[in-house]
Amino acid sequence: MRKSMLGFSEKKAKNEKITMVSAYDYHSAKILDVCDIDIILVGDSLAMVVLGMQDTLSVTMDEMLIFTKAVSRGAKKAFILADMPFMSYQSSDYDAISNASRFIKESHANGVKLEGGKEVFSKIKLISQAGIPVVAHLGLTPQSINTLGGYKVQGRDLHSAQKIIDDAKIIQDAGASMLVLECIPLKLAQKISSILSIPTIGIGSGKYCDGQVLVYHDLLGLNQDFKAKFVKHFDDFNPKVAVERYIHEVKNGIFPSQEYSFDFLDEELLDKLY
Ligand code: KIV
Repeated sequence: MRKSMLGFSEKKAKNEKITMVSAYDYHSAKILDVCDIDIILVGDSLAMVVLGMQDTLSVTMDEMLIFTKAVSRGAKKAFILADMPFMSYQSSDYDAISNASRFIKESHANGVKLEGGKEVFSKIKLISQAGIPVVAHLGLTPQSINTLGGYKVQGRDLHSAQKIIDDAKIIQDAGASMLVLECIPLKLAQKISSILSIPTIGIGSGKYCDGQVLVYHDLLGLNQDFKAKFVKHFDDFNPKVAVERYIHEVKNGIFPSQEYSFDFLDEELLDKLY
């Protein structure tokens, strides 16, 4: 039976962690499925990880569909989440709904992810009203790299931390079923996870999120050139062992420990957030 957003909401209610991995091909999807991963995200990170591009901005809908189809063929139980590439939804409400529906009809994804808060309210509303689960993405949003000026931790001062909280409430009101929080201080992620009724999934956002996501190639240690602070290598050799370790550590609150988190918010600032 295919995993569903309903099941993930139940997990949040029961305090059970949700496991997610970004993966892009048939073989990895099969391994993740055997390991009982909850969600496979066909992330636009494939632009950099698989296609060797400099950032995520150039990958197209047609390219994303090829990889999502491959993952759909490999995974029979995991929820398949397709990442909407840059300008496949920002350009217009029409583009947002028609490209989201392409992921469902052509590549058999079960839901879509898009980046942003207030500015994508109408897109989230339209897509979710069409019966397509939407996952939002706040904090470090790589499609806005040219505005953010680099891959930096977000929400470190009062204004930007409050903006992330406000956006989190807005995307939930718009109808999002889940929220990815990338590279924000762990206490801010804790606060957002307690305010929202929908589950939060962290990457570089600490252990208090309702679940975690890592890129498959990162948890296997395949990128020997660079390792972000929040990345843990679970095994360099056997992918099934690495994935099983990752799932075990997420489910049991072992990963991410302090070593893989950003602890940038002082208590005084935290008290001012609402
Ligand atoms: O593209 C991706 O893989 C992502 C995750 C890292 C959250 O957006």
